[in-house]
Amino acid sequence: MTGIPGVGKTTVLNELQDLAKQNRVNLTVLNFGTIMNEIMRELGKQINRDEMREQDIETQRKVQDLAANEISNRAGQGTIVVDTHMFVKTSAGMWAGLPQSVLQRLGPRLLVLIEADSEQISGRRRSDMDRKRDAAVAENIELDLEWSRAVAAASSVTTGAPVKIIRNDAGKQKQAAQELFEAIRKTVGG
Ligand code: AP5
Repeated sequence: MTGIPGVGKTTVLNELQDLAKQNRVNLTVLNFGTIMNEIMRELGKQINRDEMREQDIETQRKVQDLAANEISNRAGQGTIVVDTHMFVKTSAGMWAGLPQSVLQRLGPRLLVLIEADSEQISGRRRSDMDRKRDAAVAENIELDLEWSRAVAAASSVTTGAPVKIIRNDAGKQKQAAQELFEAIRKTVGG
């Protein structure tokens, strides 16, 4: 499950977890960035989640692979939903969040893109004062949304997994979670 920063992934996934509980579905959400941040700290880099994309790309690649291993080790019974990114804006350029090495480890059955209007994403980013987000110009956000779709299409070709696009419009996070819940049920059962 992916979406550009501030689109509302975590908000929708919190609603999804409530839905799963209500329906007694065994579903676990893992945040890729949190796992990467824990690994970076174990490796001696005491940085916050918004500073990881500024690290050199080889460090990020190594930690990305370790995080993918960690997630794949946690796979057991039930559905695992990974909160992550199709791409990350690093100082070296647009970098795949789900390159071949990660896709092989995760083996996704469904790829999800959460989207919203660029003005809304821009407003959500500005309202999150506790985060260090990139500049929130609407036209840059449009490009990020397009880039996400392009990377999702490539990931779908590689994995054979379908891409589901879900809107997270203002105040509609519960509806977005319901749509996601149904998409998961249709694809992986439960
Ligand atoms: P991550 O933690 O995923 O950063 P992020 O994208 O900034 O995620 P957030 O949780 O902050 O934003 P969100 O889209 O979930 O929005 P939220 O729900 O908070 O990743 C951190 C870092 O990890 C990355 O930068 C990267 O370095 C690394 N990383 C991750 N995956 C990686 C990978 N695969 N490979 C390499 N590196 C990786 O909502 C935002 C705001 O909007 C909130 O205020 C919320 O209340 C509001 N809101 C949400 N939905 C609605 C709605 N429907 N209506 C009104 N308000 C809403």
